[in-house]
Amino acid sequence: MHRVSNGLSTAENKRAHEALRYVLASTFILYMKTLSFHWHVSGRNFTSYHSLMETQYELLFAAIDTLAERIRSIGHVAPGTCTQMLEYSQLKESEANLDAESMLSTLTADHFYMVKLIREKIQILNDINDYVSSDILIARLAEHEKMAWILQSHLL
Ligand SMILES: [Fe+2]
Repeated sequence: MHRVSNGLSTAENKRAHEALRYVLASTFILYMKTLSFHWHVSGRNFTSYHSLMETQYELLFAAIDTLAERIRSIGHVAPGTCTQMLEYSQLKESEANLDAESMLSTLTADHFYMVKLIREKIQILNDINDYVSSDILIARLAEHEKMAWILQSHLL
């Protein structure tokens, strides 16, 4: 790890890194899952679901970059391989051979899981006064809550 002088102790910096890494890797797996569902979804709502998933995987892709660059800016190495993403992800991969509604309900559950995970990590970041990382995760929280609501609204 490179030396940094952001006011966090080495132990605090490590805690911030670990919190961000879990969120980054989980976001990556959810990005990949959403992308795959975008490719494989079928049925009478194809156009709507296909477009919805495209919008969401683009948001997730942007978030991956933000999270990885925050990890770099506090002096750590971001996971950079699919193996590492799977190692740190709190979400599991899915097969793509699901019907459209199962895809939507899988993604909805994953976004709600992300909400829970991120809330826990924000608490850690607040404890160590890492306001910048906390701010990034609060934005992530808002986006996951919104995506969960949109997905769920298609199922009601
Ligand atoms: Fe596409």
